[in-house]
Amino acid sequence: MSFENLKDIEKEVQQCKSCPLYISRNNVVFSDGSNKAKIMLIGEAPGADEDKQGKPFVGRAGKLLNEFLKLAGINRNEDLYIANTIKCRPPENRKPAKEEKAACERFLQAQINTVKPKIIVLCGATAMESFLDKKLKISKVRGEFFENIKGYEGIKFIPILHPSYLLRQHSTETGSPRDLTLKDLIKIKKTALI
Ligand code: URA
Repeated sequence: MSFENLKDIEKEVQQCKSCPLYISRNNVVFSDGSNKAKIMLIGEAPGADEDKQGKPFVGRAGKLLNEFLKLAGINRNEDLYIANTIKCRPPENRKPAKEEKAACERFLQAQINTVKPKIIVLCGATAMESFLDKKLKISKVRGEFFENIKGYEGIKFIPILHPSYLLRQHSTETGSPRDLTLKDLIKIKKTALI
């Protein structure tokens, strides 16, 4: 099925019953930010706060993400389009199952093809595994650009550490996960402007 625009995609997602997660969802979590953004950030899945509000990254991890975006000079509302690998909350915040990701993949593909970002930020290992070689370790390849991924021409993919992980890592020393993430976001911002 092909979609004309983001509204059409969202309308379809709102009615989606392709996997059992529709039974327990309070809200579909489709996207946030700007449809015209050069940078798209893909997270794992909605948590409890996101399920309540119908928006990605609005809970504790989202608040930390906002802090890092601000420090890197990335405007969440204007420079970024945010989505997740799946649009409905998995119970107990478990990782999305393979079947759930597969059922939701066409929507994420449609979002990418409509927004046409220059850069896709793969936020955390789950998002990274949806696009890059599953053998890669996020701690090794975060901050690296990957091209010619899954037939997406002209889009640079870059994994970063997930803010839920950073919530447990408090150091900001040089080389710490928080320091590396800020540097990755600054690199993303610079590359998006070129
Ligand atoms: N974590 C994610 O990966 N996505 C969200 O939307 C919220 C938390």
